[in-house]
Amino acid sequence: MYRVSVDYLKPGMILGKAIISDTGTVLLNKGVKLTEFYIDKLKKLGYDAVFIEDPETTDIVVEDDIKEQTRRRAIQHIRALFSIPVQELKDVKKATINEIKKNIETGRIKEKLANSKVLKNIGAISYQIVDEVLDNKMLSGLVSFKRYSDFTYKHCVDVTVLSVALADKFLYDKNKLVELAKGCLLHDIGRVLIDKSLYEEPRKLSKEEFEIIKTHPTLGYITLKDIADIGIIAAHIVYQHHEQQNGDGYPRGLKGDNTMPLPRKEIRKGYIMPLAEIVYAANVYDALVSPRVYRSAYTPDQAFFIMKRMAGTHINREVLKMMFEVIPAYPLGTTVIISTGKFKNYIAVVSKINRENLSRPVIRVLYNDRKKRIEPFEIDLAANPHINISGIII
Ligand SMILES: [Fe+2]
Repeated sequence: MYRVSVDYLKPGMILGKAIISDTGTVLLNKGVKLTEFYIDKLKKLGYDAVFIEDPETTDIVVEDDIKEQTRRRAIQHIRALFSIPVQELKDVKKATINEIKKNIETGRIKEKLANSKVLKNIGAISYQIVDEVLDNKMLSGLVSFKRYSDFTYKHCVDVTVLSVALADKFLYDKNKLVELAKGCLLHDIGRVLIDKSLYEEPRKLSKEEFEIIKTHPTLGYITLKDIADIGIIAAHIVYQHHEQQNGDGYPRGLKGDNTMPLPRKEIRKGYIMPLAEIVYAANVYDALVSPRVYRSAYTPDQAFFIMKRMAGTHINREVLKMMFEVIPAYPLGTTVIISTGKFKNYIAVVSKINRENLSRPVIRVLYNDRKKRIEPFEIDLAANPHINISGIII
């Protein structure tokens, strides 16, 4: 299978992976033969790419980082949980942030959340995600296919998977990873309490509007703190997930020192907790590789390029370095273009990841420089340093 932009889909192509909607249901199943109607629907829904089965790439199997069933269960639970404060606040929709805060603290939201069956399941789902991520040696690098309008719930699951994989590399024990997963799944719960249109409008926000957006970590924190099943670590991850190394993040302007030393102190006055620094980096990556209402998705190599410029000031340098060891810049099944040598402008699909050198995979060349299909052959980029690829085509 390989990843194809929706713009290049043709009727008759076979879907290699199921498309899951933001409510957690299967929109189109694996093995479905695409028709004009389906292709049109995928475009209208805002998906940017899908996996396609192809006779020359049947042996390229892109595994999910967690089971489809686990992902769907997580999405459904986050959605159900996020709807509780929304329901409770529906009469105070146009309220000021202070009124919303007061309502969270004095209203029934906490009680409803604390007694919710869905919340009790969040711990079990977090445990399940941690278990499945720990079984992987590395991540696929491909986040779930999102459309810009259903960004929130899938985003929370993808950030969880990436954060857990990173924290595992920094030798956190399993209990901490579960706390981390809980915080990640709920990190943007505060977003549902502020005006949805602020996230979806394809325009630059005013200073006042951005100030409103900046309250979502605090709103999330005061919603979740004191709920026993959430725990203080998860609540603080929610609170700190937009803080930056240079202190320019929000809401409190905490700082980071660009290291992940052992032993770690999660609470240090004025500093970001290390687990939240991991979530910040994962959050940036997932936002970049997902389509937004004002731009299409960046490819993983483009996201890495952008993130390198954010290292030190925004993103903890050691966390970013570890991310390059966990996510392949050119994920399995992505289409790339050769930029040097006698195969310049030939098009290939990534067929194998070199574990020791994630940015130099094995590629299978499928098209020549005139975009004509050719007899496939493979190039191991790790063994051929003179051959380069210029990027991912989607
Ligand atoms: Fe956020």
